[in-house]
Amino acid sequence: MTEKRFSINDRRLINGPVNNLMQIRPVKYSWAMQLLEQQQNNAWDQREVDLSEDAKQYATGLLTEGNLTAYKKALAFLSNLDGIQLNNLTKNIGKYITSPEVSMCITRQAWEEAQHVLSYAQMIESIGFDPDEIYWMFDTDPILAEKNEYITRSSEILGSGFSEENFVKAVVANIALEGIYFFNGFLIFYTLERQGLMRNSAKMIQLIQRDEEGTHLPLFINMWKTLRMELPHIFTDKLIAECRELIRLAAQHEIVWGKYIISEGVLGLTDTILEGFIQSLADKRLEAIGLDILYGAKNPITWFDDASKINLGETNFFEGKNASYVAGGSLEWD
Ligand SMILES: [Fe+2]
Ligand SMILES: [Fe+2]
Repeated sequence: MTEKRFSINDRRLINGPVNNLMQIRPVKYSWAMQLLEQQQNNAWDQREVDLSEDAKQYATGLLTEGNLTAYKKALAFLSNLDGIQLNNLTKNIGKYITSPEVSMCITRQAWEEAQHVLSYAQMIESIGFDPDEIYWMFDTDPILAEKNEYITRSSEILGSGFSEENFVKAVVANIALEGIYFFNGFLIFYTLERQGLMRNSAKMIQLIQRDEEGTHLPLFINMWKTLRMELPHIFTDKLIAECRELIRLAAQHEIVWGKYIISEGVLGLTDTILEGFIQSLADKRLEAIGLDILYGAKNPITWFDDASKINLGETNFFEGKNASYVAGGSLEWD
């Protein structure tokens, strides 16, 4: 055996002793085990969501041009983003973690991002869109191309050379990704749902959001807190300012994107509403990691949290799996 024995007290989130045997007992990071259990409880499969009603609404022209543009652009960005995140976790973040229990969370998360990619693929196909038009939209849409490029660059902070400081920044980039970048997209689907449109697409989004906000975001927030405890000396004013700036830039990008995708008109959404929505999210994420807020904004979309709740009472949501479904995540089951 080449593995060297070490004590649980020697374990670190990064740059700790490596145990490729994945010994997870005794547990060092109990928050990671709790999140892993939550991830297991949240298990789902895109095939459980029947999109035929949505396909009919699309085929019979029920969506206005403005709604359709917003739907397709949201779908294009979200599917691109989950692809970027899947690669980010497996090729960047994952390889630097030296805690077996946190590695398991990241591995599980990577699968969940793959699950989300499959979900968007099912939406593209079942509803009857041209897959190339959606996946490659950035080829013809410079605003989407710019956004994808910026996010890919931020996810490659570690690719430019590993350092503890860069790892912290990568964690913050992930907090922005899981907790800010997805949300204009989610909002579009819930807004259409409120008009009685594409309701099952919104159900798929609820399941995805429960993963992103319910477990992926807390995973990175806990990693931040752990890094602050284990490496207090690297959290200088400069690093803190850089982390805050990452959140500010994410919010700025997301606001531009949100305004752009509703520019042909989506009932109930305006530029001012979108701006307040994203700014309030940015503040919430900063508060979660103990940093000063940027905007002091209040979420103008008071119905958002309710819209993102999964309602098990509805028929035609899942086919035959309702009773066995396990409740979990930050979203509650009605
Ligand atoms: Fe995802
Ligand atoms: Fe995620």
